[in-house]
Amino acid sequence: MAGAMKILAGNSNRPLTEAIAAYLGVPLTKCQVRRFADMEIFVEIQENVRGQDAFIVQSTSAPTNDHLMEALIMTDALRRASARRITAVIPYFGYARQDRKPGPRTPISAKLVANLITRAGADRVLTVDLHAGQIQGFFDIPTDNLYGAPVLVRDIQDKLDLTNVMVVSPDVGGVVRARALAKRINAPLAIVDKRRERAGESEVMNIIGDVHGKNCILVDDIVDSGGTLCNAADALLQAGAKDVRAYITHGVLSGGAVARISSSRLKELVITDTILPTEAVRVASNIRVITIAPLIGEAIARTAKEESVSSLFD
Ligand code: R5P
Repeated sequence: MAGAMKILAGNSNRPLTEAIAAYLGVPLTKCQVRRFADMEIFVEIQENVRGQDAFIVQSTSAPTNDHLMEALIMTDALRRASARRITAVIPYFGYARQDRKPGPRTPISAKLVANLITRAGADRVLTVDLHAGQIQGFFDIPTDNLYGAPVLVRDIQDKLDLTNVMVVSPDVGGVVRARALAKRINAPLAIVDKRRERAGESEVMNIIGDVHGKNCILVDDIVDSGGTLCNAADALLQAGAKDVRAYITHGVLSGGAVARISSSRLKELVITDTILPTEAVRVASNIRVITIAPLIGEAIARTAKEESVSSLFD
């Protein structure tokens, strides 16, 4: 389908990389990414990549530091093997929530990670639903931030009756993202406004918008502990919502998140496969995983052919 290109898989999400390669109709480039006995990472690219357009697919999901280091070492190996261009395809960009200094003497780790990827030799970055769009500016190399929305919207349109739907942002910070999705399905928008009136007092959840009798869809970029989602679902049901589902791009789902979501009042959580789903996620009765492989595959094909990527979202 696309011109000469090399697709390389790190160990973070091999099934997604295989699905992307299948979409592109190219075999995965033979490459070993393994450990020495002392757990140092060793990479060996087992075919010629000289002058080639190379794409490393690696989410910096948990174990984040290992996956990041794999991506850096793979980039170094490609650069030293004279690849013409190296694109770091990072379906889930870890450390993205550390994008500013929350207090004195704290790091901006997202910027540090961007520097590491660039200094290792990446020429471009391709990622999905960055926690904050301005992280693109942390890279001084071309960075495409794909929107997961078209994938989520297709599933919403296929699976749900849209007549009584209300899209909900689980916090004020996610309003722009939720509004964009609401616009695509022509649905109204509500917002959960979390407030702690005084230090030491528990948070109060105010709902902006009338959710009474509505089929609510919470939209967010990340579900991690599941706290934000489950609390928002409770608040919406208390305000009279008929039922609550959630559509989230990145299923980080750390710690007891899956158990928390399984025992919550969320009717369903739909996530994409930017992060490899664990066994617990796969068997959870109210969590469903949809694939983002065709979207990333198409963006890679267009990058290789020097075609517009933004027009994917027109
Ligand atoms: C926050 O700004 C993010 O968009 C998510 O709402 C947050 O990371 C979710 O985390 P958790 O699931 O731990 O509440």
